[in-house]
Amino acid sequence: MLKVSLRCASPDAWLQAVLADFDTFLQDHADCERKASAMALSFVAKYHDRKAIIPALIDLGIEELEHFREVYAEMEKRGISLPASMGKDPYLEALLKLCRTGRDQRFLDRLLIAGLVEQRGAERFRLVAENVADEAMQKFYKHFWTSEAKHGVLFLRLAANYFSEEEIQSRLAWWEEREAEIIRALPPRAALH
Ligand SMILES: [Fe+2]
Ligand SMILES: [Fe+2]
Repeated sequence: MLKVSLRCASPDAWLQAVLADFDTFLQDHADCERKASAMALSFVAKYHDRKAIIPALIDLGIEELEHFREVYAEMEKRGISLPASMGKDPYLEALLKLCRTGRDQRFLDRLLIAGLVEQRGAERFRLVAENVADEAMQKFYKHFWTSEAKHGVLFLRLAANYFSEEEIQSRLAWWEEREAEIIRALPPRAALH
């Protein structure tokens, strides 16, 4: 069965940076959920002729927007605002730079990157759920962890509508290696990536 495997665990320095500045982490997390929703809809716009994937991407856009609403409600409770602007996400930038350019190749790469980003998100939300002191936050992050883990597989299933299992497996293995290299090189900060 198709599945995304992370080739390295997130470093402890990342977890410590998040726990040391949870308010900043929440701001970044909210932004990531908003971007995940926008990304699902930009797939719909860009690949409008790939009809098999559109309903699932619309559902995903709604679910990620609900995540954004939940994180923003938590920020409001704590008196945290949305920042005027967020810097670029160095992790996502590094992945996107490695995308191939042909239409089909790029389509597959974008789906595989999305699957990896979701799987990494799930791993990191699990780490937060298991290590944050506040019990309400443990529950809050368990909820995100389980949602994002399902999304990792979702993108592989979407790819399977258009590509063979062998093609997906071999390209995914290549991406898993690159993703692990990028994760190891990222400076730790109070952000999802
Ligand atoms: Fe999400
Ligand atoms: Fe997600």
